[in-house]
Amino acid sequence: MRGATKVVVFQLVWFLCIHVPPMFCSNVTYDHRALLIDGKRRVLVSGSIHYPRSTPEMWPDLIQKSKDGGLDVIETYVFWNLHEPVRGQYNFEGRGDLVKFIKLVGEVGLYVHLRIGPYACAEWNYGGFPVWLHFIPGIKFRTDNEPFKAEMQRFTAKIVDMMKQENLYASQGGPIILSQIENEYGNIDRPYGAAGKSYIKWAASMATSLNTGVPWVMCQQADAPDPIINTCNGFYCDQFTPNSNTKPKMWTENWSGWFLAFGGAVPYRPVEDLAFAVARFYQRGGTFQNYYMYHGGTNFGRSSGGPFISTSYDYDAPIDEYGIIRQPKWGHLKDLHKAIKLCEEALIATDPTITSLGSNLEAAVYKSGSVCAAFLANIGTSDATAKFNGNSYQLPAWSVSILPDCKNVVLNTAQINSAITTSSFTTQSLEDSSSSGWSWISEPIGISKKDSFSKFGLVEQINTTADKSDYLWYSLSIDFEDDVSSQTVLHIESLGHALDAFINGKLAGSGKGNSGNAKVNVDIPITLVAGKNTIDLLSLTVGLQNYGSFFDTWGAGITGPVTLKGLKNGTTIDLSSRQWTYQIGLQGEDLGLSSGSVGQWNSQSNLPKNQPLTWYKTSFVAPSGNDPVAIDFTGMGKGEAWVNGQSIGRYWPTYVSPNSGCTNSCDYRGYYYQSKCLKNCGKPSQTLYHVPRSWLKSDSNNTLVLFEESGGDPTRISFVTKQIGSVCSYISESHPPPIQMWRNSGPVMSLECPYPNQVISSIKFASFGTPYGACGSFNHGSCSSSSAPYIVQKACIGSRSCNINVSVNTFGDPCRGVTKSLAVEASCN
Ligand code: GAL
Repeated sequence: MRGATKVVVFQLVWFLCIHVPPMFCSNVTYDHRALLIDGKRRVLVSGSIHYPRSTPEMWPDLIQKSKDGGLDVIETYVFWNLHEPVRGQYNFEGRGDLVKFIKLVGEVGLYVHLRIGPYACAEWNYGGFPVWLHFIPGIKFRTDNEPFKAEMQRFTAKIVDMMKQENLYASQGGPIILSQIENEYGNIDRPYGAAGKSYIKWAASMATSLNTGVPWVMCQQADAPDPIINTCNGFYCDQFTPNSNTKPKMWTENWSGWFLAFGGAVPYRPVEDLAFAVARFYQRGGTFQNYYMYHGGTNFGRSSGGPFISTSYDYDAPIDEYGIIRQPKWGHLKDLHKAIKLCEEALIATDPTITSLGSNLEAAVYKSGSVCAAFLANIGTSDATAKFNGNSYQLPAWSVSILPDCKNVVLNTAQINSAITTSSFTTQSLEDSSSSGWSWISEPIGISKKDSFSKFGLVEQINTTADKSDYLWYSLSIDFEDDVSSQTVLHIESLGHALDAFINGKLAGSGKGNSGNAKVNVDIPITLVAGKNTIDLLSLTVGLQNYGSFFDTWGAGITGPVTLKGLKNGTTIDLSSRQWTYQIGLQGEDLGLSSGSVGQWNSQSNLPKNQPLTWYKTSFVAPSGNDPVAIDFTGMGKGEAWVNGQSIGRYWPTYVSPNSGCTNSCDYRGYYYQSKCLKNCGKPSQTLYHVPRSWLKSDSNNTLVLFEESGGDPTRISFVTKQIGSVCSYISESHPPPIQMWRNSGPVMSLECPYPNQVISSIKFASFGTPYGACGSFNHGSCSSSSAPYIVQKACIGSRSCNINVSVNTFGDPCRGVTKSLAVEASCN
């Protein structure tokens, strides 16, 4: 747009904003109770979706599922290193099309919270910082440092300008109602001292000066200067209060689960606890809450941070990595959001009056004029009964009951009315997908590229590679005049993250760190020969550090010492300060082998298996249908994979989680923490790797390229597709009715098939009495009504959905005086 036209358009929008609100523009402000949109206080529910962790083709569906789940706002970071990979060269294409993402959110009527940062954290490579930033002379990240502040301001202003040009701020008629500057600096600011304090003041005034027309927040920043709102992040934020009585109580990260690291077990967070945390927050005066994540997605390419963050960023979020709703998490939260919205008028009218109803029992009442809403919490770990307003209420342990009229319970966070679903994977072996067979190229061991260089001493890796590649070769040759001891040990100390040691062209040993300690310290028994010996050490990074004070300075790579111990006559020699030859990256990377379209690929019958440093290629026909696709890398070691030239991320199925610490049925009662509920112990942290459908060609051959580092058998790779399996429900006589029927009736089981063209085809299990177990493995208890299967079948078979009253009137009473439940597992076709 030319300058003059731009001014006219701006004036027009401005005119419309002033004269015809709220159709075109919204005025976003805040007060002590809430954000105000066009002067009205709002109770808002938000969820994080990071646009580069899915594809633009997935975005509309993810956003629609967010809206259907009851969200008002989508929150995302802006990923600086994605958008400015080279200083001054911007990329806003494909998964980086931020404007498109925001417009899609706006089009379905949701708002956006844009966390510009530009430091993100987010388990994203280097916390979102471009690595070139590190090489600016005199720079110190995230402190009162002129070179850093200049770059931070430039990028922040660039994003704000871009948003303004597209009229994306609410003040211009767009969906963005909120922005964030910095990220959780208050958690790590102490070592920065006074410079950290002045940096935050600067960041606040820099952000404010950009005149976005909407409020700014800083999370976990108790000293956030006015007018910036300080917000809370954590598993619980009900005890949080902002730093001024003029600011609302906001929660920018409610961790819906936790991230997975290679070498770790898979974390999950029971929805009963998540719902409890949310309800407690609104009970205690909160009016804005965001799920981190609502859809976690995938760390494609080399975007994962860490080190050791896995490629999956599923996060146990309400929408799974593949874009499928996770039930009952999604559905129970949807019901919770409806329950909270039923209280909105009362919530925005006043502060709550909090009273104790007994030990661990707490009531919060929002009463103003004719509106009244109440939240009754049991924050203890045993069930209780409480008297409130003259009535008696059953309060299950660790739960909140929501009473939008101060009388009837519309929802209890521990009682799930939503459907539960199982999902299953269907496997298709590569042979079945008309794979053309495998071809390969061996990556040379040691130095093979012309741009290698020699230097005395061991170098730090990030300073050397600038993260252009995961790989850095450290090579040396050493002569021994006569025969050498057979007891020699190669001792290597590295800052991380993993390494392979080759002696005379053969893999002699490997080492790796873990997400808690990236350092590698290995002693590898080796055999040297008389004469010349080559020592080639391949050091690799697995995602750059993304969190902590001065995290950019922690470094990686083999910084030593490197010694040979137990040489003949017991001597040790230190190789650390010798002249080493270095090579950044692989020959195959320079050649562009990942595309599959260049290179001298071997395709004879002697396919190498379990050979380190091998590039593999095959072609395949995509699994049919529309179900999400993943590759099962069982049989492979560690590496990176590309489908039609797009990197689906690092794979590492041989990194297995510890044997202990897992539980299949985690008790949601009591405070949650990130290692409380783990599954998959003793198994590979990640075997399945998402291949977005839009990267696959349905009508022709697809190319899969792998670079395998440690050795694997590519013929064992298979494709899987993910489907929803059974639909289950478990409703007790003490459950509140479904939310749309509140005040009217008793508990009702609602079953519905996941897809519109399906009907309930069979009832695999039905029991009324004291059934137990989980969806897919329900069992009859000691009490069960024999008529339950027949009654459920009659009500449901052949219909897409059915409702059954959960009461003795429907089923008869198989055991008097006992609270009974109905458990059903159905399949849809
Ligand atoms: C927070 C951070 C997020 C993310 C989260 C853990 O501390 O703000 O960006 O890293 O932890 O998933």
